[in-house]
Amino acid sequence: MKFVINGQKKLTGTVRVLGAKNAILPIIAATVLTENECVISNVPHISDVETMLQILRSMGGSARWSSEHELTICNRALACKPLDQKLVKRLRASVLFLGPFLVRFTSFTLGEPGGCIIGNRPLDTHLDGLAKLGCVWKHNDAFLSVTHTGLVGADVVLREASVTATENIIMAACGARGITKIKNAACEPHVQDLCAFLISMGAAIEGAGTSEITITGGKSLSGTTHAVISDPIDAGTYIMLGLATKSKISVTRMRPDHLDTVLETLRSMGARFDITKDSVTITNTGLLQATKIETRIYPGIPTDLQPLFGVLATQTQGTTLINETLFESRLGYLQELEKMGASVVISDAHRALITGPTPLYGRSIDCKDLRAGAALVVAGLVASGQTVIDHAEILDRGYEHIDHALLTLGADIRRIE
Ligand code: EPZ
Repeated sequence: MKFVINGQKKLTGTVRVLGAKNAILPIIAATVLTENECVISNVPHISDVETMLQILRSMGGSARWSSEHELTICNRALACKPLDQKLVKRLRASVLFLGPFLVRFTSFTLGEPGGCIIGNRPLDTHLDGLAKLGCVWKHNDAFLSVTHTGLVGADVVLREASVTATENIIMAACGARGITKIKNAACEPHVQDLCAFLISMGAAIEGAGTSEITITGGKSLSGTTHAVISDPIDAGTYIMLGLATKSKISVTRMRPDHLDTVLETLRSMGARFDITKDSVTITNTGLLQATKIETRIYPGIPTDLQPLFGVLATQTQGTTLINETLFESRLGYLQELEKMGASVVISDAHRALITGPTPLYGRSIDCKDLRAGAALVVAGLVASGQTVIDHAEILDRGYEHIDHALLTLGADIRRIE
């Protein structure tokens, strides 16, 4: 699928943000921990959600859209059988079935998860943690088999504050006998939302949002209803889109407090906003000043917004240093921006220098991964002439109809299947 964008249209209006991709994905996995019905609202229609639901259904679970953005899931009839490898390969989040399935079944085989090609994304943080809870695992080339004779709570120290490893271990610990204490846990808003979901099911979890989380396992978990938090990455994407195109747009139904560091960095560059408890409106469209952008685990600048800072840097006065400290191949989109006229020096796998402001010119470019794709869409809106983005279906993995949102703002974008 391609997006065709004719750039430099005046953009005005409001974008409403939906539920967080990286919150709903672990929450879908967490529904495995009960045989009762779970109703989850504010769920975006994105292909990663559909894939996770297909995996559940392939295992005997039932999952349906009970209204436009609401899921009703019941895993009473879940059976232990190998996962459909084609589905598992489509996304990283399939790894999140590991913890919950180990609570339901004493052995489980998982194929190699897929997901954005943005660097080496090891699973050892997950497996070392699960081993502490009593799991034995063996890796062969394509598969991972995990067994246990009863999960037992333990002290787990993560070598790195891995988001999905933290989530997997929390879910497994809910089914372990005794207390599990996770140190160096990830604090991201979506980890906090997963914990809120589990607590509403009856789990005993303390410390969500801090680097030390304590889970008292062995509670039987019931069904629940839950509204997914708003997606901070989608919100940040639209805010930076507005700044790059010098548009006074509003982004609503979001959590500004989940983007404190991002908004503070943008203010230091000269951006000005009107902020309420659930919205951000851009009020200044003057030339922004370059700064240093270093991605960090939460509450630092999220790696998922690094490509958006990269494209914004092309329209910013001075030289921006991008230091992508988490992933070692998440700068590929900069080559595509160079084709459009950006002034880029890639220093190494983690760092690049972008000097602006430079005009961008419409070109045929390629979408490398989900958030890089968003940056290329922004570049197309900024550029003069026509931009064609190939492999744009990747954007549907994380943004519900991003083209519809842009059309309401006045962009000239169309989807070519
Ligand atoms: C999750 O991936 C997200 N995916 C990713 O979002 C996100 O980029 C990433 O967390 C980081 O926030 C989901 O939640 C489904 P990690 P995950 O294990 O869990 C290194 C998107 O576009 N690292 O947290 O696989 C680590 O080695 C996707 O929505 C450190 O170096 O990521 C790995 O290379 C892309 N030090 C990378 O960071 C640390 O303290 C991310 O690891 C923690 C991690």
